[in-house]
Amino acid sequence: MLINTLNYPIYIGALPPITHTGKVLVVSDSVVAPLYLDKLLEKINASQVFSHVIPAGEVHKNQATLEGVLESAFEANLSRADCMLALGGGVVSDLAGFAGAIYKRGISFEIVPTTLLAQVDASIGGKTGINNAYGKNLIGAFHPPKAVYIDPNFLQTLPTREFKAGIAEMIKKAVCFDRDYFEWLRTYPLDQHLELGIAKSVAIKAQVVAQDEKEAHLRMGLNYGHTFGHAIEKEQNYQGFLHGEAVAVGMQMANALAVKLGLLDTHASEQIDALLEIYDLRFDYQVPNIEAFYKILCMDKKNMDRPRFVLPTRIGDFRLIEDIPQNMVMEVLKTWS
Ligand SMILES: NC(=O)c1ccc[n+]([C@@H]2O[C@H](COP(=O)([O-])OP(=O)(O)OC[C@H]3O[C@@H](n4cnc5c(N)ncnc54)[C@H](O)[C@@H]3O)[C@@H](O)[C@H]2O)c1
Ligand SMILES: [Zn+2]
Repeated sequence: MLINTLNYPIYIGALPPITHTGKVLVVSDSVVAPLYLDKLLEKINASQVFSHVIPAGEVHKNQATLEGVLESAFEANLSRADCMLALGGGVVSDLAGFAGAIYKRGISFEIVPTTLLAQVDASIGGKTGINNAYGKNLIGAFHPPKAVYIDPNFLQTLPTREFKAGIAEMIKKAVCFDRDYFEWLRTYPLDQHLELGIAKSVAIKAQVVAQDEKEAHLRMGLNYGHTFGHAIEKEQNYQGFLHGEAVAVGMQMANALAVKLGLLDTHASEQIDALLEIYDLRFDYQVPNIEAFYKILCMDKKNMDRPRFVLPTRIGDFRLIEDIPQNMVMEVLKTWS
C-alpha cells in the first residue's frame, strides 16, 4: 500500500528493495541492529553502504549520540547527494533525522521504522530532534524524510509493552481527529488487523501534517496527552514509563481537565477510558510533587509561561486552550497525587 498525501511516499507492507545512486549511512540501535541490520542491508542497492549503531533507549537521544552519527557521516564522507537511513524506533528516526538535517546543512534521509509508535507516528511528518537537560525534543528541526517504509513484520520481535505503548498514539489520533477510527479501534482487535490499523493511523497523521506542516493549529492535536505526558517522562528522568505509556496517562489528565472546564462530557471521557482499557493502557501513577510538576509543564516547548493544552471537546475533535488558571490544573493534578 502506498500513501502519497505528503511530498514523500509512505510504503506499507513487506519491505521492498531500496535503491540509491549515492552512498547510504544506515543508523540503527544496539537492539534493532542485531535483529534486522543484515536483513535491511540485503535490500539496499547503493554505491556504498555504511552503518552506525547507537545505544538503544530514550536516554541516549542526546547530543553525544548525535555527535557519533555525525562523525560516521564525515568518516563515510557523505555528500549532499547521499542519504542517511534510520532503522529503528522513534529514538533512532528522530536522532538520525536531526543528524540528516544539520549534516552539511542537510542531506536526505529515509526511515524504516521498527516500533509501532514509530510506524504510526514518529516516522511521519518530518519532526526530528534530541532531548537535553531542559526537556524532550527541545533541540531539533523540521526535516521531512524522502521516503518511509513501514513493514509490520518488524513488530513481531517488539516487546508487548512497547507494542501497547504505540497503540496510545493511535488512540490519541482517533480521539482528536477521527470518530470512525475510534469506533474501528473499539470494534476490531488490532492484533488481528494490524496492517490496516497502521495504515489508517498513518493516513490520519499524513492528512493532518499535509494541512498544517509547521503546527499552526491542526497538527497541535497530535500533542493531545503530550504536555502532561512529557512532564511525566521528565519527572521520571525518562526511566519510568515508556513515551506512549506516559501519553496514555497524559490523555486521562487532559480529559479530566477538559471535563473540569466543561469542554468534554463525562460520557465521552468514559468512552476514551474504556478504549484505553481495551488495550491495557490504564496505569497507576502518582504525581510526586505537584508544584514541581506544574513547573515542568510550563517548560514544555509548546508553552510560553502557562501551559497550553490540547483538550478533546468530543470524540473526533479538540481545542487548544491557552489560559487555564494554575489552580484548575493543580486541582486536576491533585487527583493524581
Ligand atoms: N518525530 C515525531 O513526530 C515523533 C512522534 C512521536 C514520538 N516521537 C519520539 O519517538 C520516541 C519514542 O519512539 P519508540 O517508542 O519507537 O522508542 P525507541 O526508539 O526507544 O524504541 C523502543 C525500544 O524498542 C526497541 N526496538 C525497536 N524496534 C524493535 C523491534 N522491531 N524488535 C525489538 N525491539 C525493538 C528499541 O531498541 C528500543 O529499545 C520518543 O523519543 C519520541 O519523542 C517522535
Ligand atoms: Zn508521542
